[in-house]
Amino acid sequence: MNRGNISHFFRNLGLLYAADFIRFQVHRIKHRKINQDFRQHNPSIKMPPDYLLYESFALNYPAYYYGGRESAKDLFNHFSKYKSRHNLNILDWGCGPGRIIRHMPELFDDSCTYYGTDYNSKSIKWCAANIPGIYFSHNALSPPLNYANDQFDIIYGISIFTHLSEEMHFAWINELFRIIKKDGIILLTTAGSAFKSLFTQSEKTRFENGNIIIRDKVREGHRTFTAFHPVGFIQRLFSNFEILEHIERDPVDNKLPQDIWIVRRRNSV
Ligand SMILES: C[S@@+](CC[C@H](N)C(=O)[O-])C[C@H]1O[C@@H](n2cnc3c(N)ncnc32)[C@H](O)[C@@H]1O
Repeated sequence: MNRGNISHFFRNLGLLYAADFIRFQVHRIKHRKINQDFRQHNPSIKMPPDYLLYESFALNYPAYYYGGRESAKDLFNHFSKYKSRHNLNILDWGCGPGRIIRHMPELFDDSCTYYGTDYNSKSIKWCAANIPGIYFSHNALSPPLNYANDQFDIIYGISIFTHLSEEMHFAWINELFRIIKKDGIILLTTAGSAFKSLFTQSEKTRFENGNIIIRDKVREGHRTFTAFHPVGFIQRLFSNFEILEHIERDPVDNKLPQDIWIVRRRNSV
């Protein structure tokens, strides 16, 4: 049985939340020492509550903080190919408990304005109380966002489509299209071929035929609701955008990296 079959087993029995909650407790114990050490050595760094960390990323404080900083730098390097670092409106769509957006002001300059939005109201409440200098908003599972047309120069969404239904992919890409400026850049990550080892036989066939794979039977948007994306599906999703880059990376040490897509809004649609 591969991991895909195990996940289907619990999902079909309606036991996935329970299994995931046990996994959360196991991670609490497993990372207790490293997390305590981090707190002791970094008393001034505000850390989100454990479940918010687990649900949005991993229950590992140094990985959240230093890994988040590295991810922010990587994103900054991608954006620097297309944009200056001045006078930008930057949105982290699905910011969770601020892993990446909290580092962005160190990289861009004071003339930029930063926004974060997420459908998890607890994450947004925590971010608003603990991360200064960024405008945080709560959004619903479906669009719209509370932003103006053409408001943003840069939007990124790290591992958000990976937790949405097929219908919601199209609803959200249209919403991002509405709020990005005409020459704005969007960077999104998806779960592509690197995840093939997790698929059941029928999922493999779906994927090879260019169809999105959805694992549901749980609340949409939660970490246990998962989507996997073949290239053909994403190309259809981005039909109103020019695809500037598609970066696929191979798995390293059991870590399955998501694909990176960088797109620009087409001027005439
Ligand atoms: C895997 S986490 C990634 C969090 C963050 N981007 C990061 O990289 O640390 C997925 C995030 O997407 C959020 N999310 C799920 N559905 C959403 C939606 N419809 N709109 C906004 N955020 C959503 C979840 O609440 C969660 O914070």
